[in-house]
Amino acid sequence: MTGSFEVNSVEETWALARKFAEGLKPGDVICLEGDLGAGKTTFTQGLAAALGVSGRVTSPTFCIVQEHLGADRLLVHMDLYRLHGEDDVEAIGWEDYLARGAIMVVEWPERAGSLIPKSAYHIIFRYRDGEESRSILIDN
Ligand SMILES: Nc1ncnc2c1ncn2[C@@H]1O[C@H](COP(=O)(O)OP(=O)(O)OP(=O)(O)O)[C@@H](O)[C@H]1O
Ligand SMILES: [Mg+2]
Repeated sequence: MTGSFEVNSVEETWALARKFAEGLKPGDVICLEGDLGAGKTTFTQGLAAALGVSGRVTSPTFCIVQEHLGADRLLVHMDLYRLHGEDDVEAIGWEDYLARGAIMVVEWPERAGSLIPKSAYHIIFRYRDGEESRSILIDN
């Protein structure tokens, strides 16, 4: 699923993420791009719900990687903000996660450089301070 969407609430962000999740396959990489508070983690919560994850999805900023077991697959949520480059990203087990067929959601994907596959989805979140309306651009 690709396109440009407007969402006017957290619930609409969750609903869009659930719709997007329908087309996902094992090994898909989803890059989330946008400023602090733009809605990246909120979107990931919707994805997780769609995949049958029962635990809470929070920002992984302080632990870099969180694994969530869904109904029939693994959702891996990464926040690479604190990493410095491809070597660091490889050290946290990037290739192993891909080999296991995890669905990888990546905040701050620029840290992973060329490790991001060409087939990755890029989802760009834009908002203006204090507004609930957000634009979400899904590109592939
Ligand atoms: N339409 C909307 N979609 C998503 N979040 C919204 C929306 N409107 C308001 N919000 C609020 O904006 C915040 C989005 O925070 P979120 O943690 O998802 O952002 P983030 O991009 O992951 O930030 P960070 O870079 O700090 O990890 C939440 O507090 C949420 O309640
Ligand atoms: Mg976040």
